[in-house]
Amino acid sequence: MAKQSLKQGEKVLFGIAIIFGIAAIIGYSVMEGVRRNMDKPMFGVKTHFDLTEQGQRGSEIFRKQHCTSCHRALRNGTNMGLSLDGVGSKRSRDWLLRFLRDPEATYEAKTVDHGYAPKEAAYVASLPSADIDALATFISELKADRGSSSAPEPPSGRSEFIDSMVGTFAPKEWKDKFHDVREDDPQNQQSSGDNSGQ
Ligand code: HEC
Repeated sequence: MAKQSLKQGEKVLFGIAIIFGIAAIIGYSVMEGVRRNMDKPMFGVKTHFDLTEQGQRGSEIFRKQHCTSCHRALRNGTNMGLSLDGVGSKRSRDWLLRFLRDPEATYEAKTVDHGYAPKEAAYVASLPSADIDALATFISELKADRGSSSAPEPPSGRSEFIDSMVGTFAPKEWKDKFHDVREDDPQNQQSSGDNSGQ
């Protein structure tokens, strides 16, 4: 059997694959090293909850009625769908009740799964009224801290990152059309003047 040696091109490709592998290992080791030596967690938990009795009942219904097959809450459920952790800081209990009962009339956009049959989550609207009440209470008790992706308020204090994103991506007209919620924060009052002319 003739011994086959690698062709020039194969050697180059092979070499590139090895370099990628080594770069991945180095990158991972550096990141892990940084993460281990950080004094606060890299990804802090920014949502919290404090369930009332009805909220507790709602969380059981949430699992029993398979909401977890599309949603995530309290570390239960799937990562594929919409996480409901922190949603209680964005939506009122009243909105949640209306959404669960009549999703298509309540949601701001076209719904994918909630709504009339044959949508997959059509069953939600016809759950017993007491169950829907408990679900709305449960979800309204999932709160977000300031600055979390589900919180309506930005993190307190000035963030260079947010300033640079707003500076780069927000069209100029937005300044007149919209109100910058960061300026409502007493902590930001002083520095907000610096940015208003840009
Ligand atoms: C088949 C997948 C699926 C199931 C099952 C499901 N949902 Fe949803 N849910 C969605 C999707 C997708 C959205 C976004 C709206 C839409 O497109 O329908 C949503 C949106 C929501 C929202 C609004 C979130 C927001 O702030 O915009 C709430 C609240 C909610 N679901 C609660 C529930 C509850 C409670 C259950 C169980 C009784 C449930 N869902 C079961 C897929 C599902």
